[in-house]
Amino acid sequence: MIVVLDGPAGAGKSSTAKAVAARSGFQYLDSGAFYRGLTVVFRQMGEDIPRFLERLPAMRMEARYDGSDFRLFVDGTDLTDQLRLPETSARVSVVAALPEARAVVNAALRRFVATGDFIGEGRDLGTAVFPDADLKIWLTADLAARAERRAAELEAMGLGAEAAQVRAELARRDTLDSTRQADPLRKADDAVEVDTTHRSFDDQVAEVLRLIAEIRKGNNPSPNPQNP
Ligand code: DC
Repeated sequence: MIVVLDGPAGAGKSSTAKAVAARSGFQYLDSGAFYRGLTVVFRQMGEDIPRFLERLPAMRMEARYDGSDFRLFVDGTDLTDQLRLPETSARVSVVAALPEARAVVNAALRRFVATGDFIGEGRDLGTAVFPDADLKIWLTADLAARAERRAAELEAMGLGAEAAQVRAELARRDTLDSTRQADPLRKADDAVEVDTTHRSFDDQVAEVLRLIAEIRKGNNPSPNPQNP
């Protein structure tokens, strides 16, 4: 079974998907990590787009998930620790806008889920990568709530940042991701929307698990009106 969670940056997709994976036996797939991994290489190459495009087809992208940790390798090098650095985040939309990079990532993502049950999170998993996913969820929250959560996350990583700055960076990335030509950020027509602005973390995890249970029963999933 393939479950996908798409939505804007900071909506809680990765923490939700990880918690659901831990409770459901699904494997976790972080598709943004693949774009971030390519961005680390892009930066190492001095952000030289022609040279990067030349090297891209030969790059080997691999991910490993061991039940708690998701690690990303490019050509055998573990880049996991560099994926969330602010300098990587600041340039990832540039790489994600390249159709050639999207083709390489999509092929790697499809290889990764070829076995077993997966819950993946990203921007275009329901629209472009896994259009036949068993369950598509559009996870969203208003910009202020997303910025607050992202600032707390950075703080916890020892990378304290101004809330206003985090908010501006998220808004900038949303605009770039949703206006790019290649597979822009957009809700799939058949995705169930879960707005987490006023939900607790436990509540949003419970809601996704409930939707998965509905699918397993063969029901058409719809948002729970008791948890707006
Ligand atoms: O989810 P994230 O913040 O790690 O994603 C990093 C970037 O990667 C995001 O700004 C857009 C891009 N991305 C994408 O274009 N498609 C995906 N399926 C996942 C991420």
